[in-house]
Amino acid sequence: MNDRANFGSKLGVILATAGSAVGLGNVWRFPYMAGQNGGAAFILVYIGCVMFLGIPCMISEFIIGRHAQANTARAYQKLSNGTAWLLVGFLGVLTGFLITGYYAVVSGWCLQYIFASVVGQLNGDPEYIKGYFQTFSQDPVKPVLWAIVMLLTTHYVISHGVEKGIERASKLLMPTLFILLLVIVAASCMLPGAGKGIEFLLKPDFMKVDKDVFLGALGQSFYSMSIAMGCLCTYASYFSRHTNLTSSAVQIGLIDCLVAILAGLMIFPAAFSVGVDADSGPSLIFITLPNVFNQAFSSISAVGYVISLLFYGLLSLAALTSLISLHEVSTAFFSEELHISRKHGAWIVTVSCIVIGAFCSLSLGQSDSLQFFGKTLFNWFDFITGQIMLPAGGFLTCLFVGWYIPKKLVRDQYTNWGTLRGNFFQVYLFCVRFVCPICILLVFLHQFGVL
Ligand code: PHE
Repeated sequence: MNDRANFGSKLGVILATAGSAVGLGNVWRFPYMAGQNGGAAFILVYIGCVMFLGIPCMISEFIIGRHAQANTARAYQKLSNGTAWLLVGFLGVLTGFLITGYYAVVSGWCLQYIFASVVGQLNGDPEYIKGYFQTFSQDPVKPVLWAIVMLLTTHYVISHGVEKGIERASKLLMPTLFILLLVIVAASCMLPGAGKGIEFLLKPDFMKVDKDVFLGALGQSFYSMSIAMGCLCTYASYFSRHTNLTSSAVQIGLIDCLVAILAGLMIFPAAFSVGVDADSGPSLIFITLPNVFNQAFSSISAVGYVISLLFYGLLSLAALTSLISLHEVSTAFFSEELHISRKHGAWIVTVSCIVIGAFCSLSLGQSDSLQFFGKTLFNWFDFITGQIMLPAGGFLTCLFVGWYIPKKLVRDQYTNWGTLRGNFFQVYLFCVRFVCPICILLVFLHQFGVL
């Protein structure tokens, strides 16, 4: 083996990679989708998508990264023998890079809401809270500053390296996140009338599960597991020879599902207890929930303050661990390809992402100079990365691992060079060769209304 940086422990591998997976996607999209689309029935479909699609894709990226021991672009290049496949690696790095900037903006909003919870700016009627979010997100300065704070924090972690930076931060942040989550779930489920919310989320209604729901669950599972952004491949290049790729992927998938379900148990009981309809996306987190917290805990307002503070703290942590993994993709790329130190590589990424983030944030403002074809720059980034680059990268990666690279190499990685039994290898191969590419293609066509 070479002297490449490694994660120091098995726990570090799981927590860092689960940190990438657990992010805003778990909190602002999953609960809503589950509630609207058949509750427990949706959750079962989702778990199926994670098992047969998300986990095989994750293992495939692990195989590429650990075999190549290099950043994502170089990893595909090493395995592609000069063919056009190497472009898929670049696509991964580019997708990760572009997302970093706009993900930082949303992460910055969470920080502002921590601040607003502390100074009591979130107390008011629903109209006030809506106005508060609109004024804040359209402000030319504040959101940019918070995005910079988020990126500099990420930069700080990244510049300390893999074991002392990423791994250590994940070991601290992930357990904290989990504790916060449990505290808020407990508080939410103890509210009067919370049972109806739990029922809404967990009552299986198989009638609601149709093609749209299935494809929605699939798309969500890819985003939530950080597939096709270069993150998994880059992290896997720091795994040791002894890391069991399959069991790691399964554990990370389970953690990601568990957090998503707990997020639902945090949101719906509280929303139902005050009779507010939960929404999805930014308006759920930044408009609906502050109202819910205000009303649900109105009898003891101190509890409302604390819960709101804990909630935005939780979101910021979830966002931070994802941002770290996104930043690392480009940092590894620049430092290895330009032969510069990790610190210098990290600066290139931080500064350029600040610029991207600033433009994305400004595009939400009053002036329409940063709007193109009816979409803001922010929405374009979201659309191009999430709906075009992600499926394209995932699809091509499956074909690459399933059909192009030698099967022996895949098996060696899967079984740690024959030292593991390699259970389910055939199932894995079948998923990567057939099930995953076909399903990704369907999601892609569905997004554009073809299906
Ligand atoms: N998985 C993260 C989430 O659920 C998003 C993300 C995507 C993070 C890609 C890193 C890379 O929010």
